Amino acid sequence: MANRGRVTKAKPKAATGKPAKAKEKAREKATAKAKAIARPAAAPQRLAPPVLSVRVAPQVTLESWSNGHLGAVVDFYPLDLGQPSEAAKKRVLALKDGIKLGTLGGERQADQEVARVVQVLARQGLVEYPLTREADRAEIAIIEPQMADYWPDVSKLASTDTVVLSRFAYLRRRGSEMVLESPRAGALIRIIDPAIATMLTMLATPQTVGTLRKLAGFPGIELLGLLVDCAILFKLDKPEDDGRRPSEGDETLVMWDFHDLLFHARSAEGRQANLVGGAYPYLDSIAPPPAIRPGWQGARVDLKAALPTPSETVSSAAKLFRERVSVRDYDDQNPITLAELSLFLDGTARVLSRWESPLDLEDGSDGPMLDYTRRPYPTGGSAYELELYVTVANCAGLASGLYHYDADAHTLTQIPARPEQLGAMLDFAQFAMGADGRPQILLTVTSRFARLAWKYSSIAYALTLKDVGALLQTLYLMAADMGLGGCAVGTSDIDLFEKTTGLPFHVEGPVGQFTLGRPVATDEASDTSPPRR
Ligand SMILES: Cc1cc2nc3c(=O)[nH]c(=O)nc-3n(C[C@H](O)[C@H](O)[C@H](O)COP(=O)(O)O)c2cc1C
Repeated sequence: MANRGRVTKAKPKAATGKPAKAKEKAREKATAKAKAIARPAAAPQRLAPPVLSVRVAPQVTLESWSNGHLGAVVDFYPLDLGQPSEAAKKRVLALKDGIKLGTLGGERQADQEVARVVQVLARQGLVEYPLTREADRAEIAIIEPQMADYWPDVSKLASTDTVVLSRFAYLRRRGSEMVLESPRAGALIRIIDPAIATMLTMLATPQTVGTLRKLAGFPGIELLGLLVDCAILFKLDKPEDDGRRPSEGDETLVMWDFHDLLFHARSAEGRQANLVGGAYPYLDSIAPPPAIRPGWQGARVDLKAALPTPSETVSSAAKLFRERVSVRDYDDQNPITLAELSLFLDGTARVLSRWESPLDLEDGSDGPMLDYTRRPYPTGGSAYELELYVTVANCAGLASGLYHYDADAHTLTQIPARPEQLGAMLDFAQFAMGADGRPQILLTVTSRFARLAWKYSSIAYALTLKDVGALLQTLYLMAADMGLGGCAVGTSDIDLFEKTTGLPFHVEGPVGQFTLGRPVATDEASDTSPPRR
């Protein structure tokens, strides 16, 4: 991205508007084609609505323990579910086969006890929700929560409502199942009834609920409502809307490419139930790849022989590179000071200068005026889309809390945040580092995705991650130079950050983290100790 003046001339797909008539024709054609595939039944079917149940996920075993408590065993780990009444216990144990979700809202004490246990299990992603056809008791789909607070809500839909598939939704094979997913959804749907896939094909173009209802094998309006709740389908306000990119969500969402939003949601914690981090999934099947690539065969140039004498080689930069280490444990009796934090941010992230220049459209004309900054670390296209949020746990002269670093004014602005959310962010970093205590300071690097995506197609998210790498090394080197300790943290919880700050995950979200503080003396610098994480 060295050439910051370079402009991709291709217009965003959303802007390449076909004339209205052609669009209408294309839509009619697509609808007719989809209708042909879906073979409408002669008359609207009035079948009993499918039933939504809740049951424990396959990896969970429910047990009645000898101390009177109910327990769930998840991959050998026991989870105490408390001591509900005998009546409630019996119903909770029935969660193995499933209980109807509709029966959970009752007033009776036992109903409420069951609902509480279900919620505890649901928050840990230990339940799933089968949708069963009444007529033959066949399961047509199963909902698997991906976010801790997912609860299946059936959005209300009228026959006259028009719905369309989100451009972020995708259907794929997972093992021997078909799953319908979206980075925007709080849950994924295992599709069992092929008629649902047929309906989804039709939903590539907007359809009224009334039209869908007439389909042979229509899976029920409840499923449509659940899909709308998951943002896998969305409702169109105006019938003439073609359901394309600009119809779905705010300007920032419009600028996300499908693969970028999927990458963002699937490579962080908070919006998915998959394993994240060092789980060694191929331990039993594939040998560990080596630390050093096996050499190429061929003639070699020996660079060692070409090295100048040691006195000429060790520049202050090279010395700093060699001294840099990851420091995970901090001296809480002697914490980092506000003056040190100020110097650290000044040296690594502060805006050095600002300028404006018009966008060169490369046809002799100018586009809008664009503003740029210069900062100590490099960034793709001079975008400087990265922001720093400072979570302070222990800093002499600065109150604990969450702050945004204004890199232009060199000030910290406190953001109201609940102490338990800040504690969760610090604990997350402590756990990721395998550290003995919380870090004194946690820097959360966020990306204002739109700043990059406004310019770059297809590479915006990849660029932001590369920018994070450049910033992280800058933070590491400054910490080493100042005698402070720091450590990169490879994962972030994008949902926790959204809940803490109120910033939607697609607008501005964490893409990196770095802990900072006064180091305690450890043997971390040892060249032979294995990485803790
Ligand atoms: C992108 C990135 C992510 C990292 N994530 C973690 C992490 O989550 N937990 C941790 O303890 N260390 C993490 N580290 C630190 C590495 O483990 C460390 O850099 C590596 O072991 C080399 O050790 P050194 O930094 O002391 O030279 C991360 C480093 C980088 C660059």
